[in-house]
Amino acid sequence: MTESKWLQLDEKAQNILIKNDRGGFTVPTAGLYPNQWNWDSAFAGWGFSTFDIERAWQELESLFAGQWNNGMVPHILFRSNDPDYFPGPDVWGTEECGPISSSGISQPPVAATFVRAIWEKDKTIGNNRLKKIFPKLKAWHKWFMTWRLTDRNCIFISHPWEAGRDNSPDWDNAMRAINPVGVGEYTRRDTSHVDGSMRPTQEDYDRYLWLVQRGRKLKWDEELMSVNRPFEVADPTMTFILLRASRDLLHMATALGVDNDEISEWCSKLREGIETLRNPDGGFFNAINCQTGEHSGNITSASFLNWYAGIDDDETLKILTKTLEEARYPIPSLSINSEKFDGMRYWRGPTWVVLNSLVGVGLSEMGYIAEATLLRKRTQSLILEKGFAEYFHPIDGTPGGGDSFTWTAAVWLAWASPSNGEY
Ligand code: GLC
Repeated sequence: MTESKWLQLDEKAQNILIKNDRGGFTVPTAGLYPNQWNWDSAFAGWGFSTFDIERAWQELESLFAGQWNNGMVPHILFRSNDPDYFPGPDVWGTEECGPISSSGISQPPVAATFVRAIWEKDKTIGNNRLKKIFPKLKAWHKWFMTWRLTDRNCIFISHPWEAGRDNSPDWDNAMRAINPVGVGEYTRRDTSHVDGSMRPTQEDYDRYLWLVQRGRKLKWDEELMSVNRPFEVADPTMTFILLRASRDLLHMATALGVDNDEISEWCSKLREGIETLRNPDGGFFNAINCQTGEHSGNITSASFLNWYAGIDDDETLKILTKTLEEARYPIPSLSINSEKFDGMRYWRGPTWVVLNSLVGVGLSEMGYIAEATLLRKRTQSLILEKGFAEYFHPIDGTPGGGDSFTWTAAVWLAWASPSNGEY
């Protein structure tokens, strides 16, 4: 790629972030996602930090403005009651829970890691901002350790949307056990923006809503919701990401000179929990249905987040090497050899560059430069050839979902663009 080409893409990516800015927070993309999403916002902050540090801090601060009294940071902050999005605030019914109208579940906690990256870019601006946001980050991590830790020390999700991989086959068997009686009539909005063949099925949607209705009935009280949970799946996305983010939190606690014993303990526990996620037959990391103990058996892009969490693993490296060779545009959200592989359906096959960036960062940090470079170069070609889509077909690169996507632009700016140099 020539320098003028990538500089053009840098500019395009900056313009996407600026266009998706709604005044201190960004939307993932206009139309399909008209509110503030949790991990999208954290990625946006990472992207902004390449050209506007002040705006990067604002993005993270605006996300934490929606933190609940119990420490949870919701997966959606409803900044406007846009009738074009379903399920909106009236369906979630969280009025009593937090300062901003929101959903009732969380999302992968990448925020601490990006706060660290933004802070390290310019500590003279960052030191004061970090002091203020640090206790909020810590309270959120504590919420995970209190309400989402399995007895085997991995993190589970209470709703498929919590993992950020909405319709991943990792949840299939737990979802099948739910009988969504009484879910009632409703009109989906997602399928009016993108083709239904790219979105979760109606059967999935009924169960998503049924789980939301249960939370609402229990007033989103974690204590009450933890009794006979109908859906509880230990998840590699959450476990690896929380471990990574807690290690970054620990680093920042030390720099701030505040007590770090509790965070240190969280890191040890999560590190211990990782081994539980290993599939006994295939050797890879996968999700586990906590009710039945059944392993999902799926190799997903989340299976490769171990290096990001600081965990080296020869077995996974072999599988990754094969995965990088198999598809032209890795990493597929589900192995292309799986019988459930569906190249355009959301988290059942497509490549999501946000996951690529996390895996790539982990690989390079742990010295796997050849693998990290290959992944990064393939991601560069994907964006160069196919644009800033929500996700892509891993074999032919067809762009899918929404367009002019905030986190795709952010990942370009902060990681994929050659402007960031070589590894
Ligand atoms: C979809 C994704 C989720 C993301 C959201 C906004 O629901 O599965 O991870 O946060 O869109 O982009």
